[in-house]
Amino acid sequence: MRIAMIGTGYVGLVSGACFADFGHQVCCVDMDAGKIEGLQAGRMPIWEPGLEALVKANSEHGRLTFTTDLPSGVANAQAVFIAVGTPARRGDGHADLTFVFDAVRELAKVIKPGTVVVTKSTVPVGTGDEIERILKEEGVTGVSVASNPEFLREGAAIADFKHPDRIVVGAEDEHAREILREIYRPLFLNRAPILFTGRRTAELTKYAANAFLAVKISFINEIADLCEAVDADVQDVARGIGLDNRIGPKFLHAGPGYGGSCFPKDTLALLQTAEKFGVDQRIVRTTVGVNDDRKAAMVDRVERAIGSSVQGKRIGVLGLAFKPNTDDMRDAPSIPLINSLVERGAKVSAFDPVAREQAEKVFNNIEFAHDAYAAASGADALVIVTEWDEFRALDLDKIASSMGGKVLVDLRNVYDRQEAEEAGLTYFG
Ligand code: UGA
Repeated sequence: MRIAMIGTGYVGLVSGACFADFGHQVCCVDMDAGKIEGLQAGRMPIWEPGLEALVKANSEHGRLTFTTDLPSGVANAQAVFIAVGTPARRGDGHADLTFVFDAVRELAKVIKPGTVVVTKSTVPVGTGDEIERILKEEGVTGVSVASNPEFLREGAAIADFKHPDRIVVGAEDEHAREILREIYRPLFLNRAPILFTGRRTAELTKYAANAFLAVKISFINEIADLCEAVDADVQDVARGIGLDNRIGPKFLHAGPGYGGSCFPKDTLALLQTAEKFGVDQRIVRTTVGVNDDRKAAMVDRVERAIGSSVQGKRIGVLGLAFKPNTDDMRDAPSIPLINSLVERGAKVSAFDPVAREQAEKVFNNIEFAHDAYAAASGADALVIVTEWDEFRALDLDKIASSMGGKVLVDLRNVYDRQEAEEAGLTYFG
């Protein structure tokens, strides 16, 4: 199949590279000339395990090309995927569809009948209808519009793409279904289930999936608070409930609140859709509030652990990205925590294995350490914010002996209380 991918952000680039790896001919289009030049030279704009090798290999085979010129990029495509950003609009949380509609207007000038336009970006219910309306307004006929949301996790995106739990395709005509079935055929051979739905249903399914996962996380975070109060272990509670197949073990890790480019934005956008249609979504609304409060409360936990204000204290922070295996800082729980620590007069020394460059754009008032031990050195408390693998087997004796206050605040429950205490640390999970 001949595919055009508009937008080479995280979703577009991973999807484009994986489609090319299936053997399709893929052209990725982006208006950012620097990004395209970099990709042509094999430089990745994001840090995602396995992506660089995949892009290089498929570029070398000529299956994956990059251009800033949309007309030539989409010229012969049978399917044009739109994977541009849909950030939350400042002020009201609505998904900002400017980039999507701009791309559609550009596309309208060159698209040929028979092409299928597919939204891969996360877009609110009704966006496919609006795209259809714009195409019609621009005089385009004979083009199908479909929705094919992505369910990739950053840091595991390539594996998620190649071994999906399911593929959701929302289409209103058989031609679009045929083209998408053909595009995903390599995955059906691996028995990945494909679910064909109406277009609006597919659009909503994406939001419902992310909102449900956000609810699950906030639920276990509240249970974690209760565990702390009654001296129970939330890890064991999560395991105890997760072994029930109806509940499932995943997304029950208590932590400092969910972050990233998806859950915070998508839950807000779902609420906006619900409001627009006059349907209250109390559970999701509450989840958003619980998560905001949780992120804001982490600084109090550090103070409780130290037993005093952080004023004048030195705090080591391990992990800045919103989760491991990414350099993405968007809505990372580290941001409100570090900002509050600094506001309350603490000196922060932080280390992240890959997010330093991104983090330097966010924080200008902290020190960046070159490794976990340097972040801990001389600290009154060490706070694990992101559970990178390399923080899971630290030499706790070495950490403890280099610290001032010897307090370990483990916001991801990576360590066992006993092993931390044996190393002479006061442990707060
Ligand atoms: C999420 C979804 O998992 C993907 O399926 C979806 O495609 C993607 O959003 C998207 O909409 O593009 P992602 O944001 O990359 O993926 O990361 P997750 O692994 O889902 O983690 C999100 C946040 O939840 C992180 O801050 C993570 O630390 C937190 N989390 C996750 C927990 O606190 N506890 C958990 O048990 C799981």
